[in-house]
Amino acid sequence: MIARVLQPSLEAGFPPGPRLPRTLQTAGFVFGGTRYLEWCRRRYGSTVTFRTLFDSPFVMVFDPVVVKQLFQGPPEQLHAGEANAMLGPIVGERSVLLLDDAEHLRHRRLMLPAFHGRRLDAYAEWMREATDLEIASWPVGREFALLETMQSLTLRVIVRAVFGFAPGPEEEELRRRLRAMIEPLARTRGLLLRFLVSRLRGDRTSPLDFGSRRQAVDELIYAEIARRRREPALDERDDVFSALLVAEDEDGRRLSDREVRDELITLLLAGHETTATGLAWTFDLLLHSPAVLARAREGDERYLDAVIKEALRIRPVIPGVGRVVRGQPMPLDGYLVPPGIEINPSIRVIHRREDLFADAGAFRPERFLVADPPDTYTWLPFGGGPRRCLGASFALMEMRIVLRRVLERTALSPVSPRPEKVQLRVITQAPRRGVRVIQDRAPALA
Ligand code: HEM
Repeated sequence: MIARVLQPSLEAGFPPGPRLPRTLQTAGFVFGGTRYLEWCRRRYGSTVTFRTLFDSPFVMVFDPVVVKQLFQGPPEQLHAGEANAMLGPIVGERSVLLLDDAEHLRHRRLMLPAFHGRRLDAYAEWMREATDLEIASWPVGREFALLETMQSLTLRVIVRAVFGFAPGPEEEELRRRLRAMIEPLARTRGLLLRFLVSRLRGDRTSPLDFGSRRQAVDELIYAEIARRRREPALDERDDVFSALLVAEDEDGRRLSDREVRDELITLLLAGHETTATGLAWTFDLLLHSPAVLARAREGDERYLDAVIKEALRIRPVIPGVGRVVRGQPMPLDGYLVPPGIEINPSIRVIHRREDLFADAGAFRPERFLVADPPDTYTWLPFGGGPRRCLGASFALMEMRIVLRRVLERTALSPVSPRPEKVQLRVITQAPRRGVRVIQDRAPALA
């Protein structure tokens, strides 16, 4: 790294980028999407500076080698928490998503055990049950939207595995309030536009007002925190909520009530809509690829895993991630990125590079079944480095379980002859029409 700092090219500072006026660059982003970014990559290279009306200049990264440099860079110099600041009004300031440096590390360490080993196994059974409950609600011979039912399914899973509420009236009430709180985030362009306009005014926080809906959720959570703190055998429970309440750092300190609340909402926000969208895309792609569908129906675990990875490649739920440079200028790809600038690895562009994925537009799970499948800087739907998605194993397991169960029990046909178009929402890239399908016959018995 030091050798690179001394290279003369580093003196140049910002990486190259389009010289178009900011209005035109903005139009490129809004109307050109991935095609505009891919054009810029071809013209300017792996690391490109953009200037739009929404923001101060920012740098996008389109190459795995540079992504590796970034993900392995010093976390104190690369703040992901700052890049996620717009989520503050909903997740709270003590969320692992918003924290940086030592506090981020502390929270992450306290949360990690809840996503590994024995605990993960316990969630598997609940995931299967949630899938059966959801399948039971599907009409036969009539059109319905898979995205919506996947949202309902992943919410059931989060409420059971993360919040630790078993099905019943309290659980239903919690689900209702949680869904009401995050519903605005699943909305489409109108909201995105408001978001962009607030950035235009230089406001990096969220224009969303969660006010009373957030309060309705907090009421339930704080009451439950108080109740569980009095429970004697809390460490024997398998849910994330209880694990967060008993977790201690090296100094024997536990998370405060406020911190537990913020992390629960973080897990809801990070894990619910994302997994539902990933599942909806997986089914959309599968139902439009008869050969892949036939092989997936055979139920081989490795193949199902490859189907999911390929769906997350070709339709990454989160288009990119961010790191804001702090302290010293950040050496990257032969340039020096100044403090205050955000660096964004573009997941969606990297996943579509023809030189990395032959016939990149084709849905071909076999790419993940070869001896040298894409590495973690080339296939990066969960981001990477010390900020990599905390729930990646949880999400992949849930997607496998749901996929297997739906294929085992149901016969679905797509309504549209082609896979859906991508629609950018506040956080996710979602299928525009929600993946409309018809269930051809009543589901096989559970
Ligand atoms: C298909 C589903 C999912 C996708 C595509 C996804 C993707 C991501 C991405 C791209 C990031 C940012 C990583 C970075 O900045 O490098 C992230 C962070 C995070 N995700 Fe996920 N995620 C999914 C599911 C989940 C689930 C199920 C949970 C938990 C229940 C979860 C919890 C988190 C948390 C806590 C973070 C913040 C990590 C940190 O800042 O240290 N995610 N996720």
